Amino acid sequence: MQPVLTLQNTFPMLNIVIFGPPGSGKGTQSDKIIEKYGLIHLSTGDLLRAEIAGETELGLKAKNIMEKGALVPDEVVIGMIKNRIDANIGSNGFIFDGFPRTVEQAEALDNLLSEWNLKINLMISLTVERQELITRLLKRGKEQGRTDDNLETIENRIKVYEDQTTPVMAFYTSQGKAQTVDGIGTIDEIFDRIVEVIK
Ligand code: AP5
Ligand code: MG
Repeated sequence: MQPVLTLQNTFPMLNIVIFGPPGSGKGTQSDKIIEKYGLIHLSTGDLLRAEIAGETELGLKAKNIMEKGALVPDEVVIGMIKNRIDANIGSNGFIFDGFPRTVEQAEALDNLLSEWNLKINLMISLTVERQELITRLLKRGKEQGRTDDNLETIENRIKVYEDQTTPVMAFYTSQGKAQTVDGIGTIDEIFDRIVEVIK
């Protein structure tokens, strides 16, 4: 569908990127942000796991990549995000979780939003040190059995984050949108810090 400027998309939308390494609490804090601000949650990890569960062609391709902790190709995740943005124009806004993970994805997101006269308002970067990330993810692996929560894959996910995803921080810093939040503490303490930043 060709985007057209309608009354709907002249209403302000709050669009947030929640950023941070694997296990930093992006999904956990997204749930609380959605509850408070009524945003649409767009987690590329969740969308990809749904494709795997549905045994779709895309899911079958993504499965091996995710089990290694590598990144799914940019065009695949950008396509998934485009569909969801276009389907939810006129909502209160979006929280992007686990996306963008490369500068190419960040540039594509700006382009997708600008087609609707929208932009990212804020990027929240959660900081948590490496050992705590590993402890949290191993615990979840035991409790919930997410297949990429094993030590070898966790270590690769952290390496991929450091090598391929940290440049996204500079991308949003140069736009004056990046805010760092201490991701250590209770879930509620961290959420209070996020709310202060959104205010
Ligand atoms: P994705 O699903 O995005 O995983 P991730 O980035 O590795 O991060 P997690 O979801 O594991 O952690 P989180 O930061 O959401 O933390 P959570 O709140 O869950 O991606 C998975 C894979 O999909 C990638 O490896 C890649 O292959 C692919 N993919 C996804 N997006 C992609 C993209 N854009 N491009 C290319 N490929 C992509 O918390 C973690 C645990 O800690 C939970 O058990 C939680 O209960 C606990 N916890 C949370 N907060 C606290 C706290 N304050 N104290 C103690 N424990 C806490
Ligand atoms: Mg997550």
